Amino acid sequence: MADVTNDRAPMVQTHNLEKIYRIGTHQVHAVAHVNMTIPRGQFVAIMGPSGSGKSTLLYLLGGLDHPTSGDIVVNRQHINALSAEDLAEFRRETIGFIFQAFHLIPTMAALENVALPGLFSGMTRDEREERAYRLMHALGLEHWIDHKPTQLSGGQQQRVAIARALFNDPPLIMADEPTGALDSQTGAHVLQMLERMARKLGKTVVVVTHDSHIASRADRVISLQDGSIIEDIKQLPAAIP
Ligand SMILES: Nc1ncnc2c1ncn2[C@@H]1O[C@H](COP(=O)(O)OP(=O)(O)OP(=O)(O)O)[C@@H](O)[C@H]1O
Ligand SMILES: [Mg+2]
Repeated sequence: MADVTNDRAPMVQTHNLEKIYRIGTHQVHAVAHVNMTIPRGQFVAIMGPSGSGKSTLLYLLGGLDHPTSGDIVVNRQHINALSAEDLAEFRRETIGFIFQAFHLIPTMAALENVALPGLFSGMTRDEREERAYRLMHALGLEHWIDHKPTQLSGGQQQRVAIARALFNDPPLIMADEPTGALDSQTGAHVLQMLERMARKLGKTVVVVTHDSHIASRADRVISLQDGSIIEDIKQLPAAIP
């Protein structure tokens, strides 16, 4: 891996990114010619009405879906050009993804869910579990390590998903409506964690959200409509409460 400590290259860059879904004869331009550059360490909120292409765009940026055309460079890698195997490795090392529906493995205890991304890292089981425990402790989840996802509240599941996303210490965190299913107090806690990742740990954070409170704390708000960027506003960095 290249040394990225002082890397000034953008974390994310797209060129004429496009995703068209075809259903029979009908076409949907879910993402239409998106050009954007996200510098390292930026905390970006992506907003827009339902169906405007937010999740599709995030999945494309995260290498979880393939564009119809256009180019995506993440952390200096042209991710469209990677083989499936290289892409999987790239995702493991570079991106922590927090899904709206958590995507936890129901048969596994919380600790095992958090430690999952370490399976391919060459760590021993003990090392993985120790690291998972430390992350869970940092997120106030130390009493829930043996619980299965169904035995946890929505907020606890979301924090398990966040711990898992942080397991490999990726430089880029992506989240799709991370507070959508949470009460306002738990949502505020999740927002605080996302902010800290950007402001204290220097991570690049890209969050799809309907939550104007999250947007008000971000460095930048990108608004989508019909798959296109209609507004891109930089905000003054907010102090961490
Ligand atoms: N797999 C798919 N097949 C066909 N059309 C799709 C598919 N996924 C998304 N779309 C369409 O692409 C458009 C963008 O969808 P997307 O899920 O990205 O929207 P969104 O902004 O995330 O909406 P929401 O706020 O409701 O989550 C929508 O018109 C949707 O119907
Ligand atoms: Mg969505």
